[in-house]
Amino acid sequence: MGTLSCVSTHAGETSEGPRGGSQTGARSNDDSQPRWILTGIGELCTARGSSPRGGAALGAVHTSHGQAIVFEGERIAAIGEEAEILADFGETTAQRFDAEGGLVIPGLVDAHTHPVFLGTREGEFEQRIAGASYLDIAKAGGGIRSSLAGVRGATAAELLGALIPRLDRFLALGTTTIEAKTGYGLTVADEIKGLDVIREAHRNHPVDLVATCLGGHDVPPEFTGRPKDWVEVVAKELWPEAATRAAFADVFTESHVFGLDDSRRLMESARDLGMGLRMHVDQLTSFGGAELAAELGASSADHLEHVTEHGIAALAERGVQPVLCPLVPLYLRETQEAPARAMVAAGLAPALSTDFNPGSCYCMSLFEVMSWGALRYGFSSGEALTAATLNAACTLGLGADRGTLEVGKRADLVITDLPSAKHLTYELGRSPVRHVIKDGRMAWDASSFQPTR
Ligand code: NIG
Ligand code: FE
Repeated sequence: MGTLSCVSTHAGETSEGPRGGSQTGARSNDDSQPRWILTGIGELCTARGSSPRGGAALGAVHTSHGQAIVFEGERIAAIGEEAEILADFGETTAQRFDAEGGLVIPGLVDAHTHPVFLGTREGEFEQRIAGASYLDIAKAGGGIRSSLAGVRGATAAELLGALIPRLDRFLALGTTTIEAKTGYGLTVADEIKGLDVIREAHRNHPVDLVATCLGGHDVPPEFTGRPKDWVEVVAKELWPEAATRAAFADVFTESHVFGLDDSRRLMESARDLGMGLRMHVDQLTSFGGAELAAELGASSADHLEHVTEHGIAALAERGVQPVLCPLVPLYLRETQEAPARAMVAAGLAPALSTDFNPGSCYCMSLFEVMSWGALRYGFSSGEALTAATLNAACTLGLGADRGTLEVGKRADLVITDLPSAKHLTYELGRSPVRHVIKDGRMAWDASSFQPTR
């Protein structure tokens, strides 16, 4: 395997196809849209279409063997039997790359992350292992509030310096798009700083970041006892500035944070400015958050460990997608799981996400999450894959652009060393990623990291 350059940027980029690997054929005539072919694919597994898949369609992935994929610029130009593809495109292609018999899947999409922070909270993890609950720790001044000092005291450059290596790790784990929340600044200036950091990271890293302003993450300490005052600051001062920087607004709807009225005010004022809505609901208690997310027509209702049958019915009626985070109750040592099977039976189209953050889930691996989706929710490997790709992309409004391997879609995909899609959920604790292709370019090559002997 040759050495690959593993960096591309979103600003002024020119796609170049893979560097390294076997290269054959003549150069494409059109250098602005270089063409190359992925050959040697063992199994190819992908959902299909552009809209959310729920019910029986969740697991209806398409599995095929002996296929090749043609990339042109940042898009997929053709998929078909390898021999036919080589006959049709082989002579004009600039380059080929060999997947060496591995399973190939779409680039993973993480629809719920909190990656903008400085400083970790391993002490709280130890406290929970010793028996404290997430709420005990939050009420004692830990939790979200304990991450504020890091963000407030950091420059944008320092936050970016902490974010970029996290994006490297997401990429290495096969994730090519993340939704990225702020929420650890909780002043107008510090939330805007976080959004500017997300925009800068998006421009300078292969991973795509979709920004969410989580101004309703917690009541800042300066507003203790008067949450409504913070709600008004967010509605009148933060959202207007955030609306040009973030695709979505978000709130943590829970009794110790923002109640239903405060949450409604936060979300309606964001919606009035054209922002999409995502909501942390029914995570720790049954609180009516799912019903509110349904009433507001949110793009996603996230967590839902304590959602009721009534809440599921409300989400189904409005077609609101759940974003499920199976590692979080495990990590918080909570016993209640999101009733994912009931949601799927009701026709809902769930996404699976890490919820990567320093408090309730310090894990960036959607491979791990897919396995836990199987183990905790009873998701088949096909269901887990759809939830971590197409359905996740749909919650971000990107279902027509990515999340499946189909002609015309963005050329984001993962070459693994797995023999079949069933191994996606079967294997725990190891990254099966060999290569990651983002926007038609080789963005990650795991073979650069070989053990020394
Ligand atoms: O999604 N629920 C609220 N937010 C995060 C927790 C963040 C933290 O503890 O820092 C979550 O679990
Ligand atoms: Fe979260």
